[in-house]
Amino acid sequence: ENDILDKLPLKGKKVLITAGPTYEAIDPVRFIGNHSSGKMGFEIAKAAANLGAEVVLVTGPTHQKVSHALIQVVPVISAQDMYESVHTYFQDVDIAILSAAVADFTPKEVASQKIKKKEPTLTLELEKTKDILASLGAIKTNQFLVGFALETNDELENAKGKLKSKNLNLIVLNSLNDKGAGFKSDTNKVTFIDDKETITAFELKSKTAVAKDLINKIIEQIHA
Ligand code: CTP
Ligand code: CA
Repeated sequence: ENDILDKLPLKGKKVLITAGPTYEAIDPVRFIGNHSSGKMGFEIAKAAANLGAEVVLVTGPTHQKVSHALIQVVPVISAQDMYESVHTYFQDVDIAILSAAVADFTPKEVASQKIKKKEPTLTLELEKTKDILASLGAIKTNQFLVGFALETNDELENAKGKLKSKNLNLIVLNSLNDKGAGFKSDTNKVTFIDDKETITAFELKSKTAVAKDLINKIIEQIHA
């Protein structure tokens, strides 16, 4: 009864997190990817687990590593894989935080053999991937749903638009305008917008610190 774990604010809560890029196959040896390091999602997973949450971390290909008794890592490759994996866990969780940089488009057909350079040009036909976050917003019951928005212009308006259209409880606007923020760096400059449109802007910080701010904001919102 005096167990220190009983005092952790996320004890007994299940949290689903997505992280990293997705890789969309072109042929057996090539893919379309992006520069997401996975660092933000892994830091969020650690911040949640350190407060007692049971975490499922669905991650695209990344060099990040984590070893924590409360974190289950589920590796995936493509946007479609991530969609399926996320849907197997979503019903069961209290909080879902989708920080992955999911490909918006994927090759319509994957060549079964390596594509040869016989022609001077190559045209790939791409089709839109499923929006994982929006698909969760459409089916959520009591889950607290958090998305990210990566914007370069009309940041607040675009982020608010995503908060509404995807039926989120909270969105994290990621500003790419500032040096040292974003994909490859260890720091991020973020703004939180909650479903009452309360805006909280932060200075450039380490992704570790951003993750703690985010988890604290979620705990505050859940208890409000
Ligand atoms: N997202 C997702 N599935 C996708 C695309 C995006 O779950 N197929 C999620 C991201 O993980 C992020 C949020 O949606 O939490 C917003 O991603 P972002 O790329 O900023 O916005 P999009 O809705 O994809 O729109 P656009 O890229 O055109 O701005
Ligand atoms: Ca996108």
